[in-house]
Order: sequence, then C-alpha cells, then structure tokens
Amino acid sequence: MPLVSTKTILDLAEEKNFALPAFNVPIPEFILWVLEAGEEMRASLIIQIAPVEYEALDIRMFYGTLLFLSQKFSIPFSLHLDHAHRLEDILLAIQNGFSSVMIDGSRLPLEENIQLTNKVIEVAHPVGVLVEGELGRVGGLEGDESWEEKGKEEDFFTSPQEAQEFVDKVPVDMLAVAVGTRHGLYKGRTPQLQLDRIKEIRAKTNLPLVIHGGSGTPREQLQKAAQLGVRKINFSTALRAQYLSSFQEYLESHPEELMVGKILQGVEGKVKEVIKECIIASCAEGKV
Ligand code: 13P
Ligand code: ZN
Repeated sequence: MPLVSTKTILDLAEEKNFALPAFNVPIPEFILWVLEAGEEMRASLIIQIAPVEYEALDIRMFYGTLLFLSQKFSIPFSLHLDHAHRLEDILLAIQNGFSSVMIDGSRLPLEENIQLTNKVIEVAHPVGVLVEGELGRVGGLEGDESWEEKGKEEDFFTSPQEAQEFVDKVPVDMLAVAVGTRHGLYKGRTPQLQLDRIKEIRAKTNLPLVIHGGSGTPREQLQKAAQLGVRKINFSTALRAQYLSSFQEYLESHPEELMVGKILQGVEGKVKEVIKECIIASCAEGKV
C-alpha cells in the first residue's frame, strides 16, 4: 500500500542514499498536487503539516484522506507532524495515524529540549512512531516570529559536538540541524549550506539528518547534502509563494473568472513544477 510508515521510506532513503522531500500541505489541493508530481517522477515522499497550519485543515482528516488517495497512487509516501511544540499535539497526531512526529525544542535551553524530546519518545516509540528532534536553530519565520534579529546566523548553527551529546541522551530517529538554511524567503541572498558541518554531524551521530527551510536553497547544494546523509528536506514556502503568485496572475489575466476550479487548474501546473524541482533537489527522483 502506498501510504507507508516514515520508517519504511527512511530505510529506503538510507539504502539508496537520497533525501525524502517533505512537503507542508496547508490546503487540500497541495496534497493532491504533491502526490501527482511525485507519481510522475516516481519519488518516495513525505506529506506533513505543522500545528500552526491547522487553521485551514483539520488534523483528523489527514489519515482518512491519505488512505483514500493511497488507492490512486503507487509511490510510497508517509504522514508526518511538523514543528510540534506541545505534547498534546503529538498525542493527537499519533492517535490520527501519523507515523512520525517532530518535537521542536530548539527554542528551549538544551536541558529542557532534552527533557521534552525524551517525553515525546516515551509515548511515540512504544507505538512505532518515529521522532524527529531539533538541535540548533533554523532562522527565519517559524509561523509566529523571526529568530534572526536576535543574533548572527552562525550563533544558531548546530554544533557537531553538542549533537553527539544530544543523541547520546535522546534516542531520536531523525535530527533536524541548523546548517545554513532559514524558513521563508531569502530576500536577495543565496544560502550557503555548511556541508562540512553536515558531514561532521552525520559522522558523530550516525543519524538521518533533516534540513528545514529547503525553499530557495540551490539544487546542487541540497543534492550534495543528500549525498552526505541528509535524509529529509522540508519544503513549504516555495509551494505557497508559487501558488499565490500564479493565483494572482491568473486573476489579473481573467478578471471576470468566478469558477474557482478553473483558476486552480491554471495554478496547478506551476505549483507542480516547483514540487518537481524539490524532488530533484532531494535526489529522490526514481527512488521508490
Ligand atoms: P521553507 O518554508 O523555507 O521551505 O521551510 C519549510 C520547513 O522547514 C517546514 O518545516
Ligand atoms: Zn521547519
């Protein structure tokens, strides 16, 4: 069945040395477009949502929707909870069929991050749900605030030594690291992924690493990161930005159009192109 556990495709990513592109889906159309683009490219992928995105989508509808779509697609995909800060969000996701969850303790002091992440592991591991923790802090907008005004980017990079100490105390299944990306737009600058740092963290932790803020990072950099042990790359802004600009363009050229479905058809192809680029950047094309 195409709806599989994150563990199943994470093992595949490890075996075939690629990263799973993980797409945030704030509106239902994105679920369909991501799966259709993934099917065309024969790519394994992750569908994810964060609690800050629940305004438009109810977390309880996900599992049923994906089970239903599972009949239509043949690529393997899984369901993941992104950027949870509270145990109650984690529990709700586990009860609703998510097979992996991220607990984001990166805003907390180290000891508190360790405690919170361990608490999540205590409830998730017995039921076979994987846990992604975060160490270091990815800059940019995280739904409600920007960290970058509070210091230089390097101050928030993940330290390889600290990563080793963290995973010795917290048996996470995936580790999100701050290695040069940010959430949201880059506004005129090109990000520089810290490839040596990625290599060192991977060597010290031997864990699947996760890059947040994948949008706007050059394809070649992400591909190198995938070859160095990054196993999941999160993409959100690129899809939303394309959706909104295409929507606006369509309305400007068809000011009388009132059929929403028709407008969405005009937008769909453009968003799918972006999704396909994310798949290529993750080295996930043809990996099923
Ligand atoms: P972008 O919005 O920058 O692609 O980041 C996505 C992300 O990290 C979701 O957790
Ligand atoms: Zn993120």
